[in-house]
Amino acid sequence: MNTEIAARIAELKERRHAVILAHNYQLPEVQDIADFSGDSLELSRKATTVDADVIVFCGVHFMAETAAILNPGRIVLIPDPLAGCPMADMITAEELRRKKQEHPNALVVCYVNSTAEVKAECDICCTSGNAIQVVASLPADRDILFVPDRYLGEHVSRLTGREMILWHGYCPTHAQIVPDDIARRRTEHPQAVVLVHPECTGPVRAAADEILSTGGMCRFARESTATEFIIGTETGILHRLQKDNPAKRFYPVKTSAVCPNMKKINLEKVLWALQEMRHEVRVPEPVRERARASIERMLQVKV
Ligand code: 13P
Ligand code: SF4
Repeated sequence: MNTEIAARIAELKERRHAVILAHNYQLPEVQDIADFSGDSLELSRKATTVDADVIVFCGVHFMAETAAILNPGRIVLIPDPLAGCPMADMITAEELRRKKQEHPNALVVCYVNSTAEVKAECDICCTSGNAIQVVASLPADRDILFVPDRYLGEHVSRLTGREMILWHGYCPTHAQIVPDDIARRRTEHPQAVVLVHPECTGPVRAAADEILSTGGMCRFARESTATEFIIGTETGILHRLQKDNPAKRFYPVKTSAVCPNMKKINLEKVLWALQEMRHEVRVPEPVRERARASIERMLQVKV
């Protein structure tokens, strides 16, 4: 880590009365200077309780946007405005409006990996950490339209027994992982427990021992008596897992499972964000108000 840049960030953070939130996929040096690291659900919850004037959000755009939706009174900055999520861009609000017309009885559940405009068209939001509980909370006599991640949708449908109309989005990083990657790693580390993210494809999920959000993986690794784990998600989480569990061993299912957008944020950009107070993420009213309703309904569901 560049200690000089880290020291300047710490100094400016105090002057601006700012907090730094980082997703579990961020570069190690960014996770290390953050006040809080977590998965999408943990970061959404944290964004509602932080005591700060400024939130520097180290993650992809929809995550910073979620923080901005929940915090109209605070300044939310993203260190690189081009850090987007290709899955979130696989459905537009206009496409969703058309799909809703085809299914007028359906309640719409949107994965948090979606734009504010799409969230504004939804009944309730979910993350990979609470999607099962969110879907299970919906009335049995209503159809469910789930957007945009077809793989998370399939997983939730299987576990809740609720048939759902699925959009065809997916994560290009998780879609790279194939069952052979797991088989190879299991041969190398026969004692290891295999944890994969629900954004992985069906055959990959079927080859795993546990299917968990990134926050769920952190909890599972901490509480498990196992000492070796094969991790099927973006490789950035290995830093957090290894740091939290120094006596345990973690192996990526695939070293190339890297999200290029998550890696757009680095220490220099965090420093510039605080120096120049940019790039501010703003969501126009009334989109913000409608998107907030779908996120708040989600936050009321018990996990
Ligand atoms: P988590 O909420 O599990 O951290 O997942 C976010 C994400 O973008 C996964 O690709
Ligand atoms: Fe989006 Fe996939 Fe990157 Fe997560 S890992 S932010 S779903 S592209």
